[in-house]
Amino acid sequence: MSALVVTDLHAGYGDARVLHGVSLSVGEGEVCAILGPNGAGKTTLLRALSGMVRTRGTVRLGDADLAGRSPDTIARQGVAHVPEGRGTFMPLTVEENLRLGAYVRPASRRARAEVDADLERIHGYFPVLKTRLRQAAGSLSGGEQQMLAIGRALMLRPRLLLLDEPSLGLAPLVTRELFRIVRTINEQERTTVVVVEQNAHLALGIAQQAHVLETGRIVLSGTAEQIRADEQVAQSYLGYRV
Ligand SMILES: Nc1ncnc2c1ncn2[C@@H]1O[C@H](COP(=O)(O)OP(=O)(O)OP(=O)(O)O)[C@@H](O)[C@H]1O
Ligand SMILES: [Mg+2]
Repeated sequence: MSALVVTDLHAGYGDARVLHGVSLSVGEGEVCAILGPNGAGKTTLLRALSGMVRTRGTVRLGDADLAGRSPDTIARQGVAHVPEGRGTFMPLTVEENLRLGAYVRPASRRARAEVDADLERIHGYFPVLKTRLRQAAGSLSGGEQQMLAIGRALMLRPRLLLLDEPSLGLAPLVTRELFRIVRTINEQERTTVVVVEQNAHLALGIAQQAHVLETGRIVLSGTAEQIRADEQVAQSYLGYRV
């Protein structure tokens, strides 16, 4: 069963058209990787899914049609977007950032006990955050900030988690750890994940399906194994080895 069904999605900025009719679907609880060269429109695709750019086309999440809705409405439907550059509030503490993530939940689910329980759950995934709760987010390492950004997104209890280049600027060891945690979250919470990633090898390691985006169009789709095996094709589209 598909959790997310995107049909003929167009998006852009002002007169600049970036996405030219993207269609894809992601199964419930699956991880979908979006690969492609710089400027292909990967970030714009995630922004279109979370309502941050004007779109044409349809975006269905379960029974809800999200196309054209506001970011706030889309977040309340359970879509959590961890943007490129992480989007944490630097002067706020780790705990304040995490609690902010619960803000868009329906009021009934914002009860303090529920939020406290979710904080504990997130500390389970990211034990390092628990030791940094009173520290300003801006003073965290890059890897810790990415963990905080994902932790904050989880406070929404998302049905769909959008991750934009989680490995950006991180050392290989930290990146591998981060992807291991994303896989654990996906397995334990059955959260559907769309991950945009330059490191195709890592992304394909946790994804079931993958799509290669080039100048705003999907030029290659398949299972992670198919994309990985199709090295020649992937290389010519991606410009680097998988
Ligand atoms: N705010 C904006 N205003 C106008 N054009 C933009 C804006 N953001 C992105 N673009 C343009 O949209 C196109 C796609 O950009 P996008 O950021 O979606 O690509 P990307 O695949 O995420 O690239 P990267 O791998 O470098 O992150 C680019 O040509 C870019 O210049
Ligand atoms: Mg990008």
